[in-house]
Amino acid sequence: MKIINDSELLHIIHNTLNEIDERLIDHGFRVAYLLREMMIQDGSYSEEEIRDMSMVAILHDIGAYKTDEIDAMLGFESRHIWKHAVYGYLFLKYLSPLKQLSSVVLYHHVPFQDYGLYDIPYPKLTQMLHLVDHCDLYLIRKEKFPDDFHDRLSTEEYDPELTALLKKTVQKSNVVEVITHEHHENRLMEELHFNEQEILQYISLISYSIDFQSKHMVAHTITTTSISKTLGTLLKLSDIQIQKLMYGALLHDIGKVATPVSILEKPGRLTASEMKIMREHVTHSIHILKGTMDNEIVQIAVRHHEKLNGKGYPYGLSEKDLTLEQRILAVADIFSALSGKRSYKEAFDKQQMMHILYQMADEGAIDSTIVDICHEHFHTIMENIETDCIPLLSTYHHIEYEYEHILQVIGKKG
Ligand SMILES: [Fe+2]
Ligand SMILES: [Fe+2]
Ligand SMILES: [Fe+2]
Ligand SMILES: [Fe+2]
Repeated sequence: MKIINDSELLHIIHNTLNEIDERLIDHGFRVAYLLREMMIQDGSYSEEEIRDMSMVAILHDIGAYKTDEIDAMLGFESRHIWKHAVYGYLFLKYLSPLKQLSSVVLYHHVPFQDYGLYDIPYPKLTQMLHLVDHCDLYLIRKEKFPDDFHDRLSTEEYDPELTALLKKTVQKSNVVEVITHEHHENRLMEELHFNEQEILQYISLISYSIDFQSKHMVAHTITTTSISKTLGTLLKLSDIQIQKLMYGALLHDIGKVATPVSILEKPGRLTASEMKIMREHVTHSIHILKGTMDNEIVQIAVRHHEKLNGKGYPYGLSEKDLTLEQRILAVADIFSALSGKRSYKEAFDKQQMMHILYQMADEGAIDSTIVDICHEHFHTIMENIETDCIPLLSTYHHIEYEYEHILQVIGKKG
């Protein structure tokens, strides 16, 4: 049984992307819908290729939260905006099932006349994405999609053959009407299907790419998930409960997609007003997750800052409201923060960590039975963290290295 189904996955992706910047609301989904219709009109692509390109299009600006390029994108300035494209490419290459097509994202702002400068593996699909991305800017800027837009498009920027294909697509289908309609994303959601492994990969892609915003957060989600899993097993939860706990842990800080990087990265302690903004990540998580899937998973994810003594947030719930899974994640989240290096502190050793956890248990904030298990099985928990984190940390270092490298190579070309 799938714990998260196809349309639930797409809703989570949809809502997460929409929290990044309000000007980009639904951008990826509209672009994907247009691109999909063009591929169908073209007639030479398999169903699988169309599905995978739909996902590439949905996620094509996933690197944008890392940079300040959104302003440039919206101003029809499509050249020289590489940073989000490079991050998006690397996220898809290393963290998603779309590795093969990831280069489409890397080159999605390259004008047609510059295609000779690069070795572009899928030139036609890359141009298609470039073209439909441009079309959607009309809708973002709330301008009417011009009937004669195809005559206005420059042949230096866009491949005339694809402009003709777009024209045919728009004339033969009601695509423009659909994407301007309020719930157009549902149409796309009905068409896309995934296996369980792919669903887990896409959820992880979203969570890990958010952690990659800040070098202090890089391994936080995976560490928290690893600890939750170990604790859930030690507490003899059923397989299905462990699965739900794991998804709750993977999604617990998803609202940080809307937290400014300056706050996530701030060296030293946060001021009261910065702390308020930081705490809002839970409210953003609620926006993203509410109603998207199994409510048990949503509640595990969004209650990780609640405390047994009622002093947590956002609701100030208390002991009687909080389930074992929710309590486990609350402890795992703190354990993860204590065991890692943060902008304001070094990693703590066992004695310091257990001291803090027992202090919190004594104050009635977290569950003392779970803290006892952390104490008793400290080394197992730490070993599992290490095993689970090593591959992701190495991916992060690859991404950081390749990011600099690609920008340098492109800089030389430009
Ligand atoms: Fe872009
Ligand atoms: Fe875009
Ligand atoms: Fe959190
Ligand atoms: Fe967290």
